Amino acid sequence: MTIPEPAGPDLAGVHAAWLPPEAFRAIGSRHTLVFGEGGLVGTVHDEVARACARYGGRVRRAEAGPYDLVLALTAGEPLPEAAAEVRPAEAVGDEGYVIARRDGVTVVLADGPAGLLYGLFHVVRLGERAFAGERRAEHHRPATRRRMLDHWDNVDVHPVMGQVERGYAGGSIFWRDGAPRGDLARVRAYARLLAACGVNAISVNNVNVHATEARLLTDRLGDVAAIADVLRPYGIRVHLSVSFASPVAVGGLPTADPLDEDVRKWWTGVTGRVYETIPDFGGYVVKADSEGQPGPFAYGRDHADGANLLAEALAPYDGVVHWRAFVYNHRQDWRDRSTDRARAAYDHFAPLDGRFRDNVILQVKHGPIDFQPREPVSPVIAAMPATRLAVELQVTQEYTGQQRHVCYLAPMWREVLGFRPWGPGGAAVADVIGGGDLVGVSNVGDDPYWTGHPLAQANLYAFGRLAWEPRLDPAAVLDEWIDLTFAPVANGDVERSRHTLHAVMDDSWRTYERYTAPLGVGFMVRPGHHYGPDVDGYEYTPWGTYHFADRDGVGVDRTRATGTGFTGQYPPPWSEVYESLAGCPDELLLFFHHVPYGHVLRSGSTVIQHIYDTHFAGAEQVIEARRRWEEAAGLFDPSLHARVKDLLDEQVRCAQEWRDQVNAYFFRKSGVPDAHGRRIP
Ligand code: GCU
Repeated sequence: MTIPEPAGPDLAGVHAAWLPPEAFRAIGSRHTLVFGEGGLVGTVHDEVARACARYGGRVRRAEAGPYDLVLALTAGEPLPEAAAEVRPAEAVGDEGYVIARRDGVTVVLADGPAGLLYGLFHVVRLGERAFAGERRAEHHRPATRRRMLDHWDNVDVHPVMGQVERGYAGGSIFWRDGAPRGDLARVRAYARLLAACGVNAISVNNVNVHATEARLLTDRLGDVAAIADVLRPYGIRVHLSVSFASPVAVGGLPTADPLDEDVRKWWTGVTGRVYETIPDFGGYVVKADSEGQPGPFAYGRDHADGANLLAEALAPYDGVVHWRAFVYNHRQDWRDRSTDRARAAYDHFAPLDGRFRDNVILQVKHGPIDFQPREPVSPVIAAMPATRLAVELQVTQEYTGQQRHVCYLAPMWREVLGFRPWGPGGAAVADVIGGGDLVGVSNVGDDPYWTGHPLAQANLYAFGRLAWEPRLDPAAVLDEWIDLTFAPVANGDVERSRHTLHAVMDDSWRTYERYTAPLGVGFMVRPGHHYGPDVDGYEYTPWGTYHFADRDGVGVDRTRATGTGFTGQYPPPWSEVYESLAGCPDELLLFFHHVPYGHVLRSGSTVIQHIYDTHFAGAEQVIEARRRWEEAAGLFDPSLHARVKDLLDEQVRCAQEWRDQVNAYFFRKSGVPDAHGRRIP
């Protein structure tokens, strides 16, 4: 198996992201042994060979040393001497590896070929450091079994949502105008980038499954198989979003009732054909009874009935069904204050705990509503001990600036993964999904920089790395990304580029939070496309009501005492902390409580003054980020620098619009002037 040069002629003009050829310099100039058999070992060999062709090193599959680098499978016989010395006492698992350096030889040992590939990319990350001094054996294993990206890509261009739903980076890399892209070189390069940060599963079509996309399961399965072939050499499995109504939509049956015998047979037959075509197929992703998608409710069945139907069909092949918990009433009456969208996932799913087959993975958005810049962690995560759970993050920046704003999301994800639903002594979210799945909605398209905003690449990279090791420090992940992406190709002063990127990115999520909806209240975005401010945009719509601002106060009362009772979905201590006005963390205050504008926060500021202060500060911080970036012209590739600069101009404009609309809105409602006398339009 030979892998074409990813940055070859077909990819001319596409940014190399975190794998510029120069990132392989340290490996490419050395002597390497790649020892073992299996498809992915071939990938490892080809990666090293390509680097050697560029930098003058040498790679062998057998033959006596000496070597600088040995990449070996533990099962190989006889194990090369350097590797035998660091052979671990216990197995490191299919995807794990050991890295060590002794007597001038760097060794990566893995039980399985995927582990060897991940070990190779570890060496790439270390660069020259991999070949210096001694290194005691370190064991690396992924914290999660599946590190998965969901693409919300449509095969057809959807009249409202376009080719990629909530996509901000151009068209799909898989599909174009109703057909697969013939040339999959871009997909191959994507797979390589993903393997380098640890991603091992992709779902290739939108969770909202329209007519053409439903056929991917049947007569267009070959298109999916072609993508699977390209992803396989990088250890990535393909999953497919399917419509619950497929038996009707593409199977010609009169019903999709999960308890109907013909429906069961249909899913069994179709799934068998999927596995004949794609033997390592991962499984199905399902959005059912959600925002208009069909589901089991139509037949008076529940979601355990629905999910188990598909799980049963997948079970003989070790396939899984990712069943999304994003189920809520999107046709509610804003006058009805008892309906609370935040409650919905728990109300639907917690009673079903224990009823799902063990190849059902309930996929839960990290917050109870919908990927807002600040939400509490979803209470579903603590409520279903007898169900396998995946947490879903949104890498695509639907509600966080749409890849026009710099918003490095790793600090938010780190908070989510580190949150302890049972309090300080209990397990963290990362432990709950440990050995399970972390899923992200991809932010990639056919844009030359992959992600529209070049700095949004860091979110994709960080997603993979945090899925592998949820305890990583976001600033350290950013450094890894900088070292791979920018250091090898830096125009001069690497440390200055690093300082600039940290200054612009480290706190960018909190900056975004400051100039948008305050104190966890959420939304306030323009309905439909969700970009830019519209304080009352959703307030009187059927989708949910989010702030309840009047002349006296703002926020949603979700307490048990006087509100929707949502706080009761948390175990203690959070059920008490969130219930209590005094105990509730400031950043979530308006998510849980309706308070007067003069309410004094834990910070000492009043709510209204906090709104003014954070909005002025957030907009200023974006201006400062732009200044730092402008100062760094010359340190970065000129076209990348220019693209980011243009986007920062837009971010400054948009942040000021947010500031002015939010401040003006609350000044007009409350009549309370800014304590510092700043101009509020
Ligand atoms: C959000 C988003 C939709 C998406 C949905 C989902 O509501 O705006 O475009 O389909 O999430 O996660 O299913």
